Amino acid sequence: MVWADMDPGVDDIAALLALVGTTELVGVSTVAGNHALADTDAHARRVLAALGVPVPVYAGSERPLHWPLETAGTVHGPAGRLLGLDRLPPAGPVPSVHAVDALREAFARAAEPFDLIATGPLTNVARFLAGSPAAARRVRALWVMGGSLARGGNISPLAEFNFYVDPHAADWVLREAPVPVYVVGLDVTERVRWTAAELERWADAFAAVRPALGAALAAMFGYYAGRGDGPERGVAVHDAVAVAAWHRPTWFAWRRGRFRVEPGGRDTRGWLWQERDDGPVAVATDVDVTAVKAWVDAAVLRAAARRGAGEEQ
Ligand code: BDR
Ligand code: CA
Repeated sequence: MVWADMDPGVDDIAALLALVGTTELVGVSTVAGNHALADTDAHARRVLAALGVPVPVYAGSERPLHWPLETAGTVHGPAGRLLGLDRLPPAGPVPSVHAVDALREAFARAAEPFDLIATGPLTNVARFLAGSPAAARRVRALWVMGGSLARGGNISPLAEFNFYVDPHAADWVLREAPVPVYVVGLDVTERVRWTAAELERWADAFAAVRPALGAALAAMFGYYAGRGDGPERGVAVHDAVAVAAWHRPTWFAWRRGRFRVEPGGRDTRGWLWQERDDGPVAVATDVDVTAVKAWVDAAVLRAAARRGAGEEQ
């Protein structure tokens, strides 16, 4: 049982598919990051609708806590093309409930604590955890894709995209979140690679049952793989690797401590660094590449085989 907060994003969509193939997804909240909020929200909503999976999607923060929004359209597909997902029929109306309120309600009402996975800038998550401490204590653990502890970033020499876009939210979460926090950074997610052909196989699995979704995913993954480091090396599907960490933490090595994220500075904004050896946060330092890759592949294929609500098994 899990809630996903995300900014789809090609790898967020892969993470979403892996979750659909694995667990009960209580809800999805969307945040501005890879694209403007209207686009990240439409992406999540359209994919879930095309799958026939009745998971509510709530739109959240349109901009980071303090900085103006910076997006990553060139990595995930040009703005307006919606990654190929614009070929899918529009999903139902956007609920009027804000994602931060939806998070509070979902955790406050749950019979048991459950997990929260965040694969975009941490704006919604920080606002929820800071604003609703009682509901926040019902989060069993928070799993984050962000930062890059051991090596450089992808948006600046030091910073990874999610932490760079909203460093104030990331720093608050790492210092203050009243829940166990597990962070899987770029230096670890980049070790797990998929070739264009392997991503094409994911899309093919959906095409066999849902042609429109399969075609959209083929366009989306094709664009993303085309930006990789060449056919042999493949591309990293960062957010899906963070989902694997939630599923099986023992596939990863972890360093515990107190961590900070630099809020600004031309060269330092978004930089994840360790302040002390003792502390409540665990940051991944290594990964069992073979196990994670096999699990993500299987989880995505399970999502493809899953029947939608009301469809015959
Ligand atoms: C992270 O940034 C985004 O572009 C991806 O979706 C991922 O969450 C990788 O740095
Ligand atoms: Ca993301």
